[in-house]
Amino acid sequence: MPNMKIAGVGVYVPDRVVTNDDLSRLMDTSDEWIVQRTGVRERRYAPDGMSGADMAEKAFAGALAQAKLDKSQIEAIVSATLSPDHVCPGMACFIQEKLGLNGGAVLDIRNQCTGFLHAMAVADAWIKSGLFKTILIAGTEIHSTALDFTTRGRDVTVLFGDGAGVMIVQAADEPNRGVVAVDLHGDGKHAGALAFDVPGHALHPRLTHKMFDERRFYPQMKGPIVYLHAIHRMPETMEACCAKAGVTIADVDFWVLHQANLRINEFVCNKLGIPPEKTLHNIHKYGNTTAATLPLIVHEALGKKLIEPGMLVGFAAFGAGFTWGAMLMRW
Ligand code: ACO
Repeated sequence: MPNMKIAGVGVYVPDRVVTNDDLSRLMDTSDEWIVQRTGVRERRYAPDGMSGADMAEKAFAGALAQAKLDKSQIEAIVSATLSPDHVCPGMACFIQEKLGLNGGAVLDIRNQCTGFLHAMAVADAWIKSGLFKTILIAGTEIHSTALDFTTRGRDVTVLFGDGAGVMIVQAADEPNRGVVAVDLHGDGKHAGALAFDVPGHALHPRLTHKMFDERRFYPQMKGPIVYLHAIHRMPETMEACCAKAGVTIADVDFWVLHQANLRINEFVCNKLGIPPEKTLHNIHKYGNTTAATLPLIVHEALGKKLIEPGMLVGFAAFGAGFTWGAMLMRW
């Protein structure tokens, strides 16, 4: 059975830096509150007119150069995002058109902060089944156009930033390389804890003036509930994934952790005894980039040689839904 190897990783973050002080000029917040509660110091916002597919295109160039292949070899695109360019059709269609990859398979994953992890799991399954040999996984997010920049939205707005990361993955006939174990979960009971409920096809009508006036089209979050679940579910899934692979947390050489809140990751690492040199954080400079976070971390870790061939690398994420999961991969 072929295994999945990561042939190339490319990223893009917009040039525009928005600091906590910039936000505190728009809403009642402060650099001190944001840093203390979240670890975020600044984030990037896409310029007017730039779409998520545009950002994916910029990230793709780096991944293609690293993978050293012709783009015609890419047979499928799996896109993960919570901020698609349009509600319909799926984001993968727009990315496909933008990259000139028309004709291959396209799939959208709607799993928010665990979207990229689920996309990797799907790509791995497609490769192991023999369906495809070369797949593009894209995580691209433009949060900045959907945030409430008044004090009412401050709990959510300060957390998120824009960015994109893509991976080109390929079938490798190397038995000691690739995905070793996957552990995925969801609990729809908490779907309302972090959601955009308006406009919604379940609503009749799906958008009213009243909903608009109440600004219900902005994301709503019960932050403390999300936090509480994240600090329990992340360690559980990381341990469960290690158990599936027959290894311990300490056997993992590097952990790629989703970046929702620095305090969540510090809690998880303390609980599991993961030393700082086995992780990397980017939340201070990018905020929560949701489906783009994992490839952004991988790209930086590869550049710093924190991830190298032969290493056992873990991935873990938690997000809206709730959804959570982990993956172990021999690099
Ligand atoms: N600036 C200043 N004050 C604020 C801000 C802000 N940006 N946001 C909220 N507050 C206020 C609240 O109004 C509240 O005031 P009150 O006591 O007068 O009512 C006070 O700060 C405390 O609010 P809490 O929500 O209890 O603060 P908490 O310590 O829980 O921190 C936070 C809030 C940072 C949102 C935290 O709950 C958190 O990180 N939760 C997890 C969020 C998360 O992971 N989201 C990503 C999900 S992943 C995905 O799939 C997209």
